[in-house]
Amino acid sequence: MLEYPLPRIIPFSEPTVGEAEYAAIRQALELKSLTGDGKFCHEVEKLLSEMFKVKHVLLTTSCTHALELAMMTLELEVGDEVILPSFTFTSTANVIIRQGARPVFVDIDPDTFNLDPNLLEAAITPKTRCILPVHYAGQGCNMDAINTIARQHNLLVVEDAAQGVGTSWNGIALGSLGDMGCYSFHASKNITCGEGGALLTNNTPLARKAEIIREKGTNRAAFLRGEVDKYTWVDVGSSFVLTDMLAALLKVQLERMEELNSKRLAIWKTYYEGTAGLEQAGLVKRPYFHPKATNNGHIFALLINNGRRDEVLTQMKRRGISCTFHYVPLHSSPFMVRYFEGKVTSLPVTDYVSDSLLRLPLFAHLSQEECQYILTQLYEVLA
Ligand SMILES: Cc1ncc(COP(=O)(O)O)c(C=O)c1O
Repeated sequence: MLEYPLPRIIPFSEPTVGEAEYAAIRQALELKSLTGDGKFCHEVEKLLSEMFKVKHVLLTTSCTHALELAMMTLELEVGDEVILPSFTFTSTANVIIRQGARPVFVDIDPDTFNLDPNLLEAAITPKTRCILPVHYAGQGCNMDAINTIARQHNLLVVEDAAQGVGTSWNGIALGSLGDMGCYSFHASKNITCGEGGALLTNNTPLARKAEIIREKGTNRAAFLRGEVDKYTWVDVGSSFVLTDMLAALLKVQLERMEELNSKRLAIWKTYYEGTAGLEQAGLVKRPYFHPKATNNGHIFALLINNGRRDEVLTQMKRRGISCTFHYVPLHSSPFMVRYFEGKVTSLPVTDYVSDSLLRLPLFAHLSQEECQYILTQLYEVLA
């Protein structure tokens, strides 16, 4: 049994990498395969497409860039509106604003912390072009409801599946349920290459357009497929291609996905079962998963009752445990208050969840001993 002082501060998150990852980087260097869209990029895109049963995969330098690429591909125009939750990372909204479009924030479901589909209709206006749901903690949003509403109003759906690698809604991989989907391979995610992402789509015209934007506005991807004999500038674009060296690392991580996700899930279950007593005592609310959504153990988030979240964070830190909060809502951020000229939307569930949420350390190589220590300390702090 671990006792304080600990041999190390328990970090909140750490990538799980070993010999196979070192070997992959070494191999890319030896082959001098460093630039984007090379051997390893193609292998990873093929692997992702087979694993998640999606037609087209474009690796990118981050999920932020995958989202930006999606927004550029949709040709959002100044004044267009995109509906999204405020309970998300800044990237989800930044990419809308960078196209000159406007974010429209809606509240979240109090159980899943995902965009509440019941509030969508009221947020749709003649200017709405797109719905951008975020799959919080890798739990699929209610994509049946979101896609139905989108079809009725002729809207596009882009999924922010940054945290959703390896999970599904109703048996279908996240990121492949809307018109386009975006994954993150940031060091904090289940599968990582440090910084990286992917754009997924089953829509071939959208994929063809996106591959041009991703490659500096050129038809280099078509050239690499042998479809044209030289490549040239065909449209406006940017540079979102992942380097092959990182793709080599990502390939190993993808091959380890089942192992890494199941290790995280085992820790998630230990926390879930271990906090039942706290819930029974009315001190916390444990996470809820919809029966149609699977869990990749990305995040273990509790709601701490009675306004005690900040105090618990501080006390856990004193005991050598790095917990964290999630997210600082976007709608009331300094930038959005300025952007909306002081008119802040009221999103009570988002505000409550954001003020109450506590995430426990979670990564694949966190030991059972550390887990038990964390649970014991949480009970003591909340006692
Ligand atoms: C919901 C969500 N979307 C987008 C991102 C951005 O991902 P990246 O760091 O790969 O750009 C994050 C990052 O954690 C996220 O949580």
